[in-house]
Amino acid sequence: MVDYSVHGQVAVLEVNNPPVNAFSHNVRVGLDRSIDKAIKDTNVKAIVICGKGRTFPAGADIREFDQPHKEPSLTLVFEKLEKTTKPVVAAIHGTCLGGGLECALFCHYRIAQKTARVGFPEVQIGILPGAAGTQRLPRLTGLHVAMDMITSGRHIFAPEALKYGIIDEMFTGDVINAGIKFAKSVMNKPLEDRCLMNKTVKDADQADQIADEFMSLVKRKYKGFEAPIDCVKAVKASATLPYREGLKMESRLMQKLLLSGQSAAQRYAFFSERAVSRWKMPGGNFQTAKPLPIKSTAVIGAGTMGTGIAVCLLNAGYQVYLLEQNQKFLENGVKTIRGIIEGSVRLGKTPMAVAQKAATLLKPTMKYEDLADVDLVIEAVYENLSLKREIFSKLDKLCKPTTLLCSNTSSLDIDRIGTATKRGDKVAGMHFFAPAYYMRLLENIYSTQTSPTTAATIMDVGRKIGKVSVLVKSCQGFLANRMRGPFAVEAYFLLEEGSTPQEVDSVMENLGMPMGPFKTGDLSGLDIGYKIQTELAKSKGVELSVDSKFLMGERISTLTRTMYDNGRLGRKTGKGWYRYEKPGGKLATPDEEEILERLMYSCINEGFKILEEGVAATPEDIDISWIYGFSWPKYLGGPMYYANRIGLDKIYQRICYYHENFPYSSHWIPSRLLLKLSENKVPMSQWCSGTDSKL
Ligand code: 3HC
Repeated sequence: MVDYSVHGQVAVLEVNNPPVNAFSHNVRVGLDRSIDKAIKDTNVKAIVICGKGRTFPAGADIREFDQPHKEPSLTLVFEKLEKTTKPVVAAIHGTCLGGGLECALFCHYRIAQKTARVGFPEVQIGILPGAAGTQRLPRLTGLHVAMDMITSGRHIFAPEALKYGIIDEMFTGDVINAGIKFAKSVMNKPLEDRCLMNKTVKDADQADQIADEFMSLVKRKYKGFEAPIDCVKAVKASATLPYREGLKMESRLMQKLLLSGQSAAQRYAFFSERAVSRWKMPGGNFQTAKPLPIKSTAVIGAGTMGTGIAVCLLNAGYQVYLLEQNQKFLENGVKTIRGIIEGSVRLGKTPMAVAQKAATLLKPTMKYEDLADVDLVIEAVYENLSLKREIFSKLDKLCKPTTLLCSNTSSLDIDRIGTATKRGDKVAGMHFFAPAYYMRLLENIYSTQTSPTTAATIMDVGRKIGKVSVLVKSCQGFLANRMRGPFAVEAYFLLEEGSTPQEVDSVMENLGMPMGPFKTGDLSGLDIGYKIQTELAKSKGVELSVDSKFLMGERISTLTRTMYDNGRLGRKTGKGWYRYEKPGGKLATPDEEEILERLMYSCINEGFKILEEGVAATPEDIDISWIYGFSWPKYLGGPMYYANRIGLDKIYQRICYYHENFPYSSHWIPSRLLLKLSENKVPMSQWCSGTDSKL
C-alpha cells in the first residue's frame, strides 16, 4: 500500500493504492509505518511523499465513510510529518485532492508537475476538509483564496497553486527524481518556518467581513446545501481561534456533516455518476464493446439545440459541419455559437486557445454533400417524425457506410427513425438538455437495432465533451422526459383543482429544486407541451378540441391548450404562468404534502416502470438523469434514492391511493416492480432491471 525505498539519503514513500491512491485504512497504516521507519533510519536525511501510477493521493477513501472508523486517523498520521526534524517534500502529480492535499499541507515543502491539480472537493460530497485542511490552507493562502477553494471544491492547476503559495515549485519530468532532487536541496535548512501550524492567517483582521461575504454567497449559490455553510464557519475559525481550537471546531462540524443525510446522498450521487458509465444493453456492455474513433462531426439544424450541441463538440476539439437550409438561419446559428463561446471565454470558463481552435473547426454549410465523410451526425431539427425520417434516409444514402447517425429527439422512437435507413445498427439517440452547452446530462438511446459499438461510441463522445452520459432503451419519452411526464401533468391537474402555480412551485423549491414546474415551464416555453400533446393525439388519429379532457381514455389538462391559445408561452412572450391570475376555483387547495406526493410519487412510480421495462438498467441511471438533466438537488440523491429513504411501503400505498382517486391517469397504475421490491424488502443496491423476474 506504501512502497518504501531509500535513494542515497532520501527516503521515498510512494502511495500505491490504485486507481486514485485514496487513503484507505491499509494506506494509513502503511504510511504510518513508513514514516516511522524513515524517521528512525539515521541514514535518511529527508523524506519524499508521492503517489504511484497516475496520481498523488486523491483523498480519503470515500467508500469507508459508511463503515466504523479504524485508527489511525489521517490527522494522526500526518502530524508525524510536520513534527519530524527531517524535511518532508510532497512531490505532486495528477490530482492532489482532499486528504491528499491535507497530507501535502503537513509536509514542509510541496512541488508539483505543471499539469497537476490540487483542490478540496469535499464540499461536493457534503463534508469539509476534516484532516486540518480548513485550518492549514488559510495559513498558506489567506482567507479569501481558502474560502473560495473550500466552498466551491474547485480544482486548480499547478501554476495557479504556485501563485497562491500552495506549492513552492513546479517541475517537469519524473516525479520521484524531482522529489529527490528537491529534497537534497533543502536537506539542512531550518524547518520551524515551514510548519504551517506555527503560522498565522495573513488577512485574519478581515475575518468577519470575508466570512460574511462568503456566507451570503454560498447561501445564494448553493441554496439548501449544508456543507458550504459549515466550510465557511470552519475556515473562519482558522483566523479567529488558535490552531488546536480551530481543529476542534473543524472536527465538530465534520462529525455533524458526516452524520447528516445530505452527505450520504451526495456520496451516493458521486458513485452513481461513475456507475452509469458502466453501461449495458442487450448484446454488449462497456467492457465488451469498443468505441469507434470520431474526428469529424455534423450537426443538422442551427436552432437553440443544434447550436448548443455544436458548442459542446467544438470545445472538445471535434470538427463540426453545421448544416441549415437557408443562409439566414445558418448565419444566425454561427453568430449564436460565437456568442456562446465568447461569453464563456469572458467568464474564464473556456481558455482562449480552445476558443480560437473552435473557430477553425466550425464549418457552416447548406449542402448535405459536405457531410459525406463525417464520422458522426447529430440531427437537431424540430420534433417531427416524418421530417426526421426524411433527413435520415437522405443521410443514409450520401454518408460513408461507417458514419453514425444520431438524433437529438427528446421523445420520438429511435426504431422508427432507424428504419428510414439501411444502417439501423448505426442509428441512435443523443438527447441533450437545454441549454446543451451547459446542462451536463446526455441521454444516449439505443433502439432494437443499435449495435453495442454504436452505443460505446456515443458514450465515449459524451465523456469527451464533458457530459455525464446515461444509456437507455428507446421508448416514448425515454428515461428523463418519460419520468418527468407525470410531474408536469400532475402540476397542471393540481391547478385545475384549485392550487396556484406559486404554491406548487414553492413546494418543489422548498424540497430543493432550483425551480418549480411552472417556472421551468415558463423558461422552456409553454408551446412545447401543447405541440407534444397535439402530435401525440395526431399519431393516435385523434383531433383534440378546446375542451378535450381525455385522450384515448387518459385524463389530459385543458390548460395546455388555454395557455397556448392565449399566447402565454412563458418568458419568451413575457407572460406565462407568472402573469396568470389566480383562478377563483371552488375546489379546496390541496395541502403541501399532496402537492409533493402527486408530483414526486407519480414520477417515482414511472421510474420503477422504467426499471421494470429495462429502459434504464439501474436506479443510478435514473437518479443521475435527474441530477444532471433536471438539476435535482444532489443532497437528496435523486428520486429513486429519495424513494428508498421514504420507504417503498409508504410510496406504494400512496400510489395506490392516488390510483383509486385518479383512475384516468395511467401514470398512477402502480408499478409491479415497486410492489415486489416493497413486499420483499429488497435493498436498493439490488434494484435493477431484471430483479423483477427473480422475485
Ligand atoms: N475514494 C474512493 N474511491 C474513489 C475516490 C475516493 N476518494 N476517488 C475516486 N474513487 C474511485 C471512483 O469511484 C472510481 O471507481 P470505479 O472505477 O469503481 O467507478 C475510480 O476511483 C476512478 O475514479 P474516476 O472514474 O472518477 O476517475 P477520474 O480519473 O475521472 O477522476 C478524480 C479522478 C479526479 C480523483 C475523481 O475520482 C475524484 O474527484 N475523486 C474524488 C476526490 C475527492 O472527493 N477527494 C476527497 C475525499 S474526502 C476526504 O479526503 C476527506 C478528508 O478531507 C478528511
